[in-house]
Amino acid sequence: MSEHTTALVTGANKGIGYEIAAGLGALGWSVGVGARDDRRREAAVEKLRAAGVDAFGVPLDVTDDASATAAARLIEEQAGRLDVLVNNAAITGGVPQEPTRVDPAVVRTVVETNVIGVIRVTNAMLPLLRRSASPRIVNMSSSVGSLTRQSGPGGEQTTGPVSAAYAPSKTFLNAVTLQYARELSGTNILINACCPGFVATDLNGFRGVRTPEQGAAIAVGLATLPDDGPTGKFFEDAGEVPW
Ligand SMILES: NC(=O)c1ccc[n+]([C@@H]2O[C@H](COP(=O)([O-])OP(=O)(O)OC[C@H]3O[C@@H](n4cnc5c(N)ncnc54)[C@H](OP(=O)(O)O)[C@@H]3O)[C@@H](O)[C@H]2O)c1
Repeated sequence: MSEHTTALVTGANKGIGYEIAAGLGALGWSVGVGARDDRRREAAVEKLRAAGVDAFGVPLDVTDDASATAAARLIEEQAGRLDVLVNNAAITGGVPQEPTRVDPAVVRTVVETNVIGVIRVTNAMLPLLRRSASPRIVNMSSSVGSLTRQSGPGGEQTTGPVSAAYAPSKTFLNAVTLQYARELSGTNILINACCPGFVATDLNGFRGVRTPEQGAAIAVGLATLPDDGPTGKFFEDAGEVPW
């Protein structure tokens, strides 16, 4: 079994996921770059290695059971266990997303990636995480999924446009995170959700105001929580986000 701390980041070929991989790699950790496209994955692994990161490619489409199973097998062969899983991969589903106009197929696709994908990958990795002395799971959510913020004054300003797919998928992900924390309470696994802020990436046509590196910081922090750290919570840089 590897003596190194080993992490897997899903959707790590670009954007915030890439910077989470870089941030964990800078700690001296071995980082699995989970990505579905061979060319994009290998380019990211090369770039991370050039920056001194002990990176390895993990072919992974979070919507595919066989892919998640194969990814777990690869990590088992590579490291023997997994210390940290960052569920970062997600899609918005595009527009329109107003509930009265949305194509139900879009909602299904977004939930399949952003929620069921997280459950699929987490459950595939749990046997490897259970072998770690300090397992951590970080679910990359968004404050647009906060029901409290959406229903408060100025909801549109603080939580983005009306959406029947992306924002509710993050609400669903938050709820699922809490259910995992409840089931895993009493184990050494800490699982939390986080929001990176509004970050300039492909996801929003680079309209965000923060850099991917800034957006990655909260996930890196939750990946490195001490053993008495929180679980079943939702954080952004400024502190806890209301559900
Ligand atoms: N940017 C923001 O302002 C913002 C705000 C709040 C939360 N977030 C969250 O932060 C996370 C990262 O977003 P980002 O802004 O960095 O977006 P991004 O640049 O679009 O990156 C998304 C990543 O997810 C991957 N992905 C999508 N579907 C996948 C699948 N089925 N299997 C495997 N990988 C898949 C993409 O891979 P491909 O290259 O193959 O498409 C890409 O690597 C997401 O969870 C997002 O919801 C972002």
